[in-house]
Amino acid sequence: MRTAILSAMVLVVSCGLVWAAENAASSELQQVWLDELDLSKAIIGWGQIQKNKSVDSKPLVIAGKSFARGVGTHADSRLDVKLGGIGEQFEAWVGIDDEVAGSDQGKAAASVEFLVFGDGRLLWRSEVMRAGNPAKEVKVNIKGIDTLRLQVSGGNDINYDHADWAQAQISYRLTAPHTIDVVMPAPYILTPKAGPAPRITGPKIFGVRPGNPFFFTVTATGDRPMKFAVRGLPEGLILNSDNGQIRGAVKNAGEYKTTVVAENKHGKVEREFKIVVGDTISLTPPMGWNSWNCWACAVDDEKVRASAKAMVDSGLLNHGWTYINIDDCWMRREGSKDPVIGEPVRDKDGYLLSNGKFPDMKGLTDYIHSLGLRAGIYISPGPNTCAGYIGSWEHEQKDAERFAEWGFDYLKYDWCGYSRIAPNPNLDELKKPYAVMRDCLKNTGRDIIYSLCQYGMGEVWKWGAEVGGNCWRTTGDITDSWGSMAGIGFKQAELYPYAGPGRWNDPDMLVVGKVGWGPNLHPARLTPDEQYTHISLWCLLSSPLLIGCPIEQMDEFTYSLLTNDEVLDVNQDPLGQQARRIAQANGIEVWSKAMEDGSRAVGLFNMNEFEARKGTVSWKDIAFAGQCQVRDLWRQKDLGMFENEFMADVPPHGVVLVRIIPAK
Ligand code: GLA
Repeated sequence: MRTAILSAMVLVVSCGLVWAAENAASSELQQVWLDELDLSKAIIGWGQIQKNKSVDSKPLVIAGKSFARGVGTHADSRLDVKLGGIGEQFEAWVGIDDEVAGSDQGKAAASVEFLVFGDGRLLWRSEVMRAGNPAKEVKVNIKGIDTLRLQVSGGNDINYDHADWAQAQISYRLTAPHTIDVVMPAPYILTPKAGPAPRITGPKIFGVRPGNPFFFTVTATGDRPMKFAVRGLPEGLILNSDNGQIRGAVKNAGEYKTTVVAENKHGKVEREFKIVVGDTISLTPPMGWNSWNCWACAVDDEKVRASAKAMVDSGLLNHGWTYINIDDCWMRREGSKDPVIGEPVRDKDGYLLSNGKFPDMKGLTDYIHSLGLRAGIYISPGPNTCAGYIGSWEHEQKDAERFAEWGFDYLKYDWCGYSRIAPNPNLDELKKPYAVMRDCLKNTGRDIIYSLCQYGMGEVWKWGAEVGGNCWRTTGDITDSWGSMAGIGFKQAELYPYAGPGRWNDPDMLVVGKVGWGPNLHPARLTPDEQYTHISLWCLLSSPLLIGCPIEQMDEFTYSLLTNDEVLDVNQDPLGQQARRIAQANGIEVWSKAMEDGSRAVGLFNMNEFEARKGTVSWKDIAFAGQCQVRDLWRQKDLGMFENEFMADVPPHGVVLVRIIPAK
């Protein structure tokens, strides 16, 4: 029945196209400039798409040649035009706008490819173009095409990729073409649903400082009600057997080996759990949520509570997701006339005040903690934050105290406004504000994960741990495009020596689900395969995993991406190694991460956008030999025993993530 309806639909569509084509032939040829169409439906890697201007709003110029008309965009960019069979020809002059050719950085980084597709078929490609290359002429026959896609691909990096479709024009007959929403390939779910019997998830190791408040929630999937028990819990800690929350404090430093037990009507399981009382916290990468990629400055108390509640209600907590972090815009702004943001920015004793969107910070963290979650906050060491709110400059100790008093467990410390204090910082100046806050946090008597955010300046990975950082951003801000995500993620290759328990490279927060950096959200503009790549890569990299979408609005596909326990185990492995790139050829990258049990987690990534390719991992590259067992982690399925190598088809921009276990 379904097939019959589908074929009828196909018939109607193709009859429509034939009808349009036949009628078109007899009617007058007309032209429309691309810049006359509604461009708001385009997706673009950075900035706003522009009519008759470059993406930076300058006149369109390619290699010294000016163009009066056209569209200025930025890789990765896609624009879909509905032709319905009435098109004749698409023509344009394409190239990188001269506005990026002025700097050495721009010249070096800018590289794009212009692509024209008709109904998913590649009709024309420019080959890679760089800044200063003369404009290339495009003339494509688009007869009989239903949907035309104009795409600019930035390869694996979108820095400086300002791309112009100059003098772009569509010739057609009959009805004028119009733009439509860009259609993404349909999502497909690989993660099997969690079963009814208990399965313990989350980290197998947890660090706490002696005497500081201890708070850890044992997490497990499986039907509720569930009972928890812990054998060998050190003195000073108490478990709530109904919800798995362990609280208290441990006086004496040392390693405590415990066994966690979870039981429901379907069964009982146990797992080892090590508590390390010492000087290092964040022994595995933090996993949670952050408000920035979704709400940016539209964040408020209600939205934070909604994500926290959904973290529990959706079951994400049961997979080990525990942090709820507020990013910028919760504080006040000097000189603000806005009654919500308001002044004064601090109380009479110099302690920070939250703004009207966060009326009760302590109440908020109490709520977050009551759910078994931890709370995070953000500020800048400078006089102001990136968004212009008050920073910690000259109030560091008081701010640290206030954060501790409010009950925060995580601090993101974002350089931003500090560039007013140190505009051209040398290494000592780069380290200074972070060392200051490290000492202030220590004095609070609370374990607060310390997340350095300064975009990788001065090779922060080499000294982030020295200034007390538990993680450090290694790059600029991520956006939801392949060029941005892959550009950032795959560039972490050389940083593996610097990661380890308590010290993680941070390639920025996740861009899956709905993102938007403001009140209006859109589904992340990554294909399903690109999203599998994103999560697999971040897990292999042992990166902090911070969800950037409102959890209460999460769709089933995104949920499946974030609840695959075998994939998350790669991220949370107690050995804390970051994956290394071990092979790279024919557009396939092979990354391998050594796991505590002696196995390897291996990602085969296909950097090619248009075709599936074979990826191979050779045992010799991972120091294995003979027979090894291979398990597909996304599907949670054994693939069998393999000798010397494993080979798989990897979808375009996609990944095959496996665990390779040597035969005993
Ligand atoms: C910087 C950071 C972002 C975010 C914003 C807030 O851009 O890199 O992650 O925190 O500031 O303004």
